[in-house]
Amino acid sequence: AALDKMLTIADLKERARRRVPKMFFDYADSGSYTESTYHDNESDFQKIRLRQRVAVNLEGRSLASTMLGQSIAMPVAVAPAATGGMQVADGEIKAAKACEKFGIPFTLSTMSVCSIEDVAENTTAPFWFQLYVMRDRPFVERLIDRAKAANCGALVLTMDLQILGQRHKDIRNGLSTPPKFNASSLWQMMQRPEWCMGMLGTKRRTFRNIAGHVSGVVDLGSLSHWTATQFDLTLNWKDVAWVKARFGGKVIIKGVLDPEDAKLAVEHGADAVIVSNHGGRQLDGAPSTIRVLPEIVDAVGSQTEVFMDGGIRSGQDVIKALALGAKGTFIGRPMLYGLGAGGEAGVTRALDIIAKEMDTTMALMGERDILDIGPKNVYSNDMVRN
Ligand code: FNR
Repeated sequence: AALDKMLTIADLKERARRRVPKMFFDYADSGSYTESTYHDNESDFQKIRLRQRVAVNLEGRSLASTMLGQSIAMPVAVAPAATGGMQVADGEIKAAKACEKFGIPFTLSTMSVCSIEDVAENTTAPFWFQLYVMRDRPFVERLIDRAKAANCGALVLTMDLQILGQRHKDIRNGLSTPPKFNASSLWQMMQRPEWCMGMLGTKRRTFRNIAGHVSGVVDLGSLSHWTATQFDLTLNWKDVAWVKARFGGKVIIKGVLDPEDAKLAVEHGADAVIVSNHGGRQLDGAPSTIRVLPEIVDAVGSQTEVFMDGGIRSGQDVIKALALGAKGTFIGRPMLYGLGAGGEAGVTRALDIIAKEMDTTMALMGERDILDIGPKNVYSNDMVRN
């Protein structure tokens, strides 16, 4: 009932703030350095204006679409996000279930709490798996094989995290490597009894894609140390080929923000690209994703599917991204806030809110089919060239 009162993603965010220990809520609600890119991702959507058309028959509207040839209920997928399982116990399983019921793709992060196998055992629809290429290539090969064995529908290869953009809040909260749990963090957890009970009730509390799969990595300390030394500074376009060959399925390149990189991704075999600045968590000062989307669609849109993420907080935002050429979108924080606000039901609520907003917005624009949304539906400005 409490969730029914949540009318917007912002409502879910405020409910999550009250239910999740501060350090984990802050981890989701932060960008790197000054957070300028994090904020631009959201605020640049407000600069785009939609075209209202009237007196069109609005019966029989449809949000159904496809991403990578897969039929989906609406062109919105859940983005990979580390620590979904820290917003609420078993978070990734809960989010995957919500997506499965809704009929949209769920993407599991390499750095998730629940493992590939945990999610596979608890769902039936194929989910997507996000891969970080670590220096330990035999581990990465095993990870790819595990994703394959779990029947993952696509691999999302993230290219924008060879080095970590600093997020000040995490350091101040002790979410460093290794984590520094102190009186303050314990106090933060104790203030969230329901969250604590959930965590005590599950065995899934570390990065289970890694723990137990690398020798010597057993607890949070050894795990964080291993992870911190594992991001690969030498990652380059040539790596796409072996990842693709090993996986044998579709590979989506995530973290493209420049048309030249989009062309390189396509040259190196990308089946799709995600225009992303990692939700403003990496290069602070980079432009918002909605701003650069049109030039990337111009560069590679005729050869590959272009998806985008960053700053989507409503159905209106999804419609704007589609109008500017995205074939599909991803949501990161709206899913995390949903988890914090109410677990699986919270994620379902987030998806319901976005779907309802998309449907109404489309109708008020005089459109019945989401597949018809395009440049004609928005006004030209400095971001939209049509
Ligand atoms: C992320 N993101 C991310 N991306 C990725 O490829 N692997 C990961 O493990 C993570 N982890 C992660 C954790 C948290 C807390 C956040 C907020 C984000 C980035 C994510 O996939 C996506 O690009 C952004 O979240 C999109 O922006 P919005 O929707 O959060 O504004």
